[in-house]
Amino acid sequence: MTSLIRSRIIGTGSYTAEGVLTNRDLERMVDTSNDWIVERTGIRERRVAGKNVLTSDMAAHALRQAVEMAGIGPDDLDMIVCGTVTPDRPLPATAAYVQRKIGAAKNCPSFDIAAACSGFIYGMAIADGFIRTGTAKRVGVVGVELLSRILDFKDRNTCVLFGDGAGAVVLAADESGSGLLSTHLFTDGSLTELLTIPAGGSAMPASEATVADRLHYVHMEGKEVFRFAVRYLSSAAMLALETNGAGPDDVNVVVAHQANMRILDGVSKRVGIPLDRFVLNIERFGNTSSASIPIALDEAVRGGRVNGGDMVLMMALGGGLSWGSALARW
Ligand code: UT7
Repeated sequence: MTSLIRSRIIGTGSYTAEGVLTNRDLERMVDTSNDWIVERTGIRERRVAGKNVLTSDMAAHALRQAVEMAGIGPDDLDMIVCGTVTPDRPLPATAAYVQRKIGAAKNCPSFDIAAACSGFIYGMAIADGFIRTGTAKRVGVVGVELLSRILDFKDRNTCVLFGDGAGAVVLAADESGSGLLSTHLFTDGSLTELLTIPAGGSAMPASEATVADRLHYVHMEGKEVFRFAVRYLSSAAMLALETNGAGPDDVNVVVAHQANMRILDGVSKRVGIPLDRFVLNIERFGNTSSASIPIALDEAVRGGRVNGGDMVLMMALGGGLSWGSALARW
């Protein structure tokens, strides 16, 4: 008799950049205030990576930790998937640098996912597919962002929100019944313009004019994104529960994308899971895009907040718009 293969998270890791940028620091840079930022977002400070730190350095640090916790070696990984919108370079994939930096096997397929803040959930869903079909046994999934390099520190609509960091997990084939129970992914391509970096790609290659017009920075219609975020994060969470015949009371820990405290509060109310079951670290790290779920998850795991048998609900939404959820039995 063969039992069902699932992918289980057997290790977590993270890297939170050492530089701290507080709301008070930002008050000196743009027309904003600590009170506005705290009240409207819940953020008090965020991390900024040092000048010599690369996205792949942060990713490698987080994945090394996850591999260590998993009790395996880097060359035991069959695949590395990196969710990022801030790759070291447009070409090649950041995951290829990560493979080299952690000393993973040279033939281990390593690639990036461009799903913005949903990159980690997308990465896990892809890894899960490879594991369930038996194509891979152990996959490193990373969410990593060096957003401070693509933020316009003259634009108060965006620069106060984001931070740098990386988080990672090792997913491994498991037949115990624990692991990822389901993943759901969505994209609405009619909403591409709500969150974009207009220039630097093939649609608008870099030129003196694009640089002068500050088009290489993140542009966001925050209010619009906010509306969709509450709605779609909630629906993705409810779909995850429904698919598994579970209800809000069955969920022990929620690790949701940390974009805005008010979004998390709205989702908590809509889904019916009290906020005290949510892992919250937005106050210290701001929005780290694809890194936000794996950083929060790593903190929760190392802090003893997630225990064997717990039901863990994860969901994210970001540029695309893309969004999704994953439900795991720990
Ligand atoms: O991670 C990817 C997904 N991203 C998100 O989920 C982000 C979703 N959006 C949000 O979190 C919120 O919409 C923001 C935090 C971005 C903005 O909060 P808001 O309550 O929606 O504010 P708003 O955009 O409606 O702006 C309200 C006012 C405006 O002034 P007026 O027009 O009312 O005079 C803004 O110009 O607040 C102003 N404002 C600021 N004031 C001080 C915008 N940014 C700032 C700022 N400091 N940093």
